[in-house]
Amino acid sequence: MNKNKTKKTILDIKNLKKTFGNNVILENINFNLLEGESLAIIGASGSGKSVLLKNIIGLLDPDSGSIKINSTEMVNLPRRDKENILLQLGITFQHGALFDSLRIWENIIFKVQNQQKISKVNGRKLALSIIERLSLKPEILDLFPSEISGGMQKRVAIARAICGNPKILLFDEPTSGLDPVTGSVIDKLITSAVNTIGATAITITHDMASVSRIADKVILIDNKTVAWSGTPKEMMTSNNLRIKEFIKTINPKLFA
Ligand SMILES: Nc1ncnc2c1ncn2[C@@H]1O[C@H](COP(=O)(O)OP(=O)(O)OP(=O)(O)O)[C@@H](O)[C@H]1O
Ligand SMILES: [Mg+2]
Repeated sequence: MNKNKTKKTILDIKNLKKTFGNNVILENINFNLLEGESLAIIGASGSGKSVLLKNIIGLLDPDSGSIKINSTEMVNLPRRDKENILLQLGITFQHGALFDSLRIWENIIFKVQNQQKISKVNGRKLALSIIERLSLKPEILDLFPSEISGGMQKRVAIARAICGNPKILLFDEPTSGLDPVTGSVIDKLITSAVNTIGATAITITHDMASVSRIADKVILIDNKTVAWSGTPKEMMTSNNLRIKEFIKTINPKLFA
């Protein structure tokens, strides 16, 4: 969570537009992220947050606009180059997406194993060191994803994302469906990755407590675009109607 004007730009999005058929999902999306910054993306269900993330990582192609990761233009990049960049990212999807046929430890080290040769013993050791940080028990290492609970699968997906210490992390709702204690373990992990290895992080979340814990920048996606941006503190005190309305919907107790 370092703020420094001399830091390099890790992500730069300009005039991004995404449609599905006649349905415009996102337009005029503009924002950037500097090295070591942690961004939270908030917005109502269906506002296009996951679609935005999938555009950033190249799983969806925008209709127009520019997405630069480390100054490389991702839009229309040849597939192999895109894959090389994706290997440098740590990503979790909203809906798990573990490899069903691989054991938990194999899932966790999947990306690292693709980049370097790693023995079974060292692979299991590496996976173990990560799951311990996520309050998961070693017994799960040799199980398959279908043999552990949904919340555990979610944490394994996060373990897979952070394995190998990628410098760019993207998490889609990493704490949704988890109990508050486990949620705060994950928040701490994100903060620690940002603070200790200087990772740049993007987290989609609807958990306002989480936003304050993990982010130093927030953007609200509403009406197809970035409707508001600021710091978590500004978010809670802003007089902007759209951000006020959003927070009120998410957490009516704050306004009771
Ligand atoms: N592959 C697709 N084809 C057609 N429409 C899609 C596709 N993916 C997403 N959409 C539509 O895009 C809109 C935005 O979806 P998205 O998943 O980004 O919402 P979200 O903000 O992540 O919502 P949530 O908070 O519920 O996860 C929705 O109307 C959805 O139906
Ligand atoms: Mg989503």
